[in-house]
Amino acid sequence: MQQKLQNTKNLVSEVFNKVYDKYDLMNNLISLGIHKSWKKQLIYSMNPRQNKNLIDVACGTGDIAKLFIKATDGKSKIQCVDPSKKMILIGKNKLKDYKNISWKISAAEKLPFQNSKFDYYTISFGLRNTKNLNKSLAEAYRVLKKGGRFFCLEFSKINNNYLDFVYQNYSKLIPLFGEYVVGDKKPYEYLVKSIREFIDQDELIDLMKQNKFSKCQYINLNGGIVALHSAWKL
Ligand SMILES: C[S@@+](CC[C@H](N)C(=O)[O-])C[C@H]1O[C@@H](n2cnc3c(N)ncnc32)[C@H](O)[C@@H]1O
Repeated sequence: MQQKLQNTKNLVSEVFNKVYDKYDLMNNLISLGIHKSWKKQLIYSMNPRQNKNLIDVACGTGDIAKLFIKATDGKSKIQCVDPSKKMILIGKNKLKDYKNISWKISAAEKLPFQNSKFDYYTISFGLRNTKNLNKSLAEAYRVLKKGGRFFCLEFSKINNNYLDFVYQNYSKLIPLFGEYVVGDKKPYEYLVKSIREFIDQDELIDLMKQNKFSKCQYINLNGGIVALHSAWKL
């Protein structure tokens, strides 16, 4: 499934090339810090075992890798993957004390790894940015071992009219924060538009099933502002 907005030439890469050095700051500001609890919820749901390996796709500045290392007491390997050199550079610098993280520049749609290599696959606020959802999910399935687990954290659809009204109005302010902090509102207009146009919780479950995943499920976080989808490769 092609995503129309994300296939606009160079749009997504330009967005992250503009925001990379203020990405963590803006994430904290516009989510009021709540993105940290969403990411912790992902790791909590995963309940990862030691001596397993994770591929974190659309890793950005490495938040998931850091939480995974903590949850496994450093006894794990992490492969961080992102097409943005600049986002990866920030992540590498932030996590330079951790020796068990490797970094690779690549898109989710074509991962440069052999089949059945990883125990866990995570993608946090990344799937929405890919050009092709089916290709990304097919690659996730391919690189996971049999018995491996898939986790996707992503903005989704709110199931409460009042919360939706508040959220939609709050979203109008996000580009203004962007202009003030980063000096450019366009990346944040993209953020708001890409969230609005992204598929809903059940549509993502359907795509996961179409791409051979088993035991597909999701939980809504904060009323569906974000959903955490998970599945198994069996
Ligand atoms: C919103 S950030 C999320 C970063 C991090 N996972 C987090 O949760 O904070 C989205 C990331 O997706 C990356 N990205 C954009 N297009 C992508 C693609 N086709 N495949 C994988 N990642 C992509 C961007 O470079 C960016 O680092």
